[in-house]
Order: sequence, then C-alpha cells, then structure tokens
Amino acid sequence: ESLEKGGFEHFMLKEIYDQPRCMADCMRGRLLLNEKRIVLSTINMHRERLMKAERFIIVACGTSWHAGLIGKQLIEQWANIPVEVEYASEFRYRNPVISPDDVVIAISQSGETADTLAAFQLAKENKAMCFGIVNVVGSSIARASDTGIYIHVGPEIGVASTKAFTGQVTVLTLFALALGHERGTISKEEYESTIEELGNIPEKIKSVLAKDEEIKDIARSLTYAENALYMGRGFNYPVALEGALKLKEISYIHAEGYPAAEMKHGPIALIDENMPVVFVATHHQLYKKIISNIEEVKARNGRIIAVVTEGDEAVKEIAEATIEVPSTLASLAPLLSAIPLQLIAYHVAVEKGLNVDQPRNLAKSVTVE
Ligand code: G6P
Repeated sequence: ESLEKGGFEHFMLKEIYDQPRCMADCMRGRLLLNEKRIVLSTINMHRERLMKAERFIIVACGTSWHAGLIGKQLIEQWANIPVEVEYASEFRYRNPVISPDDVVIAISQSGETADTLAAFQLAKENKAMCFGIVNVVGSSIARASDTGIYIHVGPEIGVASTKAFTGQVTVLTLFALALGHERGTISKEEYESTIEELGNIPEKIKSVLAKDEEIKDIARSLTYAENALYMGRGFNYPVALEGALKLKEISYIHAEGYPAAEMKHGPIALIDENMPVVFVATHHQLYKKIISNIEEVKARNGRIIAVVTEGDEAVKEIAEATIEVPSTLASLAPLLSAIPLQLIAYHVAVEKGLNVDQPRNLAKSVTVE
C-alpha cells in the first residue's frame, strides 16, 4: 500500500498532487495546442444529435454535482444551450419533464452511484440521449451511456474526491468549448485563447501545490473551529460548495458553502469572532462585489481566509490570511482555486489525527440509495 501511495502519507494527498499530470492525461489527444482546436470523438460521432439538443440536464451526486454546476455555466456561456443541474436522487423520484431532444449528462467518478444510474435509466426510458462523464472505464454508468467522455484521471482511492473533480471540470470545459465552436456561439478569439490557457493550467496547478507549507499553516488555524463558511461568486461559487464539502467530509467540521451575495440572507447572522469564512476571491467578474462581502464579515469580526490572485492587494489588507493562485481566465478559475481548499481540508484532518482516506460513515461509491 505504501508503494501505491508513492511516498505520500495518504492517498488523498497523492491524488491532490497527481492533478497536474491527471489534467494533462485528460486533455491528451483532445486539446490540440498547436492547431488551437479541440477534438472529441463524441462530437465527431454524434454531431447531429448534439447540435439539435434543446437542453442539457446534468444529474450527479456529491462532488460530481459541484462539477456539474461549473459545467452549466460553461455550456450556457459558450454553447448557448440551457442546462439544468439536478441531484440524481431528487430527479429520479420527481417525475421530471424529459424530452427526446434533451441530452442527459450523468457525471460520476465511480460510474456506480445508484441514484445517478437510476436517473440515467429514467432518461433512457424517456428517449433522451444518455451522455456519461465517468472515470471508471466499463462501469455501470459508462455502459448505460449512448456516448460520453471518460475523464481518464486514473484510480481515485481517497473517499473525498479531488482529482476526479478537476478531471470532470476539465472534460466539461473541453466539451463546452467544442460545442460552442461547432454551434458558432463562441468567438474564434475566445475559443483559441481559452485553449491556449487550458494548456497552461497543469503548470499553474503545480505552482499552487508549491504553496503547500503555507497552506498547512493556515489550515492549522482552523483545527479547533466548530463551523466554517465558504463563499464564492460566479465560477467560484461551486468551488466554495466543494471546499465546504471537503472540510465536512474529512475533518468533521460543520461547513457551509454559499454564493457570497446570499450571505446577507442568513449566514451573516452566524458571523462572530469564532467564525472562519473562507472566501474564493480571485480577480474576476464580481471581484469588487466580493470585496464588499468580505468587508461585511470584517465589520462583524469574522475571521477571513481568502484565495486570491497573485499580486492582489485589496483582499490582503483585510484578510487574516490569503493564499495566492496564478492569474487565469474566469472560466478556468475553478481548476486553480479548488486546489488550496482541498489542501486546507486535508491538513485540518491530519492535524486532528483523523482517518483522511476513509472518513467515518462515508463510502467511496454509494451503490445503494
Ligand atoms: C460519494 C463519495 C463522493 C462522491 C459521490 C458521488 O459520496 O464519497 O466523493 O462525490 O459519492 O460519487 P460518484 O462516483 O458518482 O462521482
């Protein structure tokens, strides 16, 4: 087992560090940097059907559902097709409206999650196209798919999903870009500049990982917290949800993720000097607005930890601690800003002496409802 961990103390840490390589594997043969284009066999094989899709419905659970929320923003922005993101467990029992022109995308690391598989079967009964975004080759969801895209990040052992999340977001990014290009709904400049920047992301993830010692020190300051809030906006809103889920899953600290502007509709009542608030405040759309959200927390003596873009000044002045990530496009921000949040959760759990790879009551793959 220690050999499989490749010198890391836990699978989760190994998988976090694997991410630059996993992303490169996931994009190999699909992202053609020299030609500035994306090649996906699913689009080549099912062009007509995908082009006439009137709606995408993403069904997933847990971390995969968070990746779906990012996918929705990407597909709507670039391909101009409406996307709904559903918890598979709710969708399957709700008698949802599904038409034969819908494409139902199931996102699942294991490909075995019972609720996601059942939601997919419901889509099939209603003659929608079943599109799988799966890691485990030959899994039940992969087999039930009419088509799809494997994320190809290799086996994920740690119960808390890390590299599968970045793999899912990468695949959704490639798919949304390619679809937008086919449909003519993304400009040539945006298509090509996003492709170019995608090629830089693995190196940029490496530079986030190089801050691990710094992140560990910040994580230590959360060890005795009983609660935490995670806030983000735009593409970073699902990242906040994912950061909170990671902390809950392995450190057993109660954490909630919120879109930062919703804070005033509830969570702000919880803020006092004992409440750490982790902001994902990279330099993108809504940056100015999130600063005013940070100030609201500061005014109530909350503890502020923020993920910011390199060179940020404004947040640094008000936060207790900041973690810098390299600058990138807004649409690709989650691929970088998720990494420090994974590391925070990991280090808090290790500091508390908990079983990081097998947290209590959780399973890697939930094959019963
Ligand atoms: C479990 C795992 C999570 C995972 C979720 C969905 O809860 O502990 O890490 O995100 O199932 O799993 P899937 O394999 O469908 O992505």
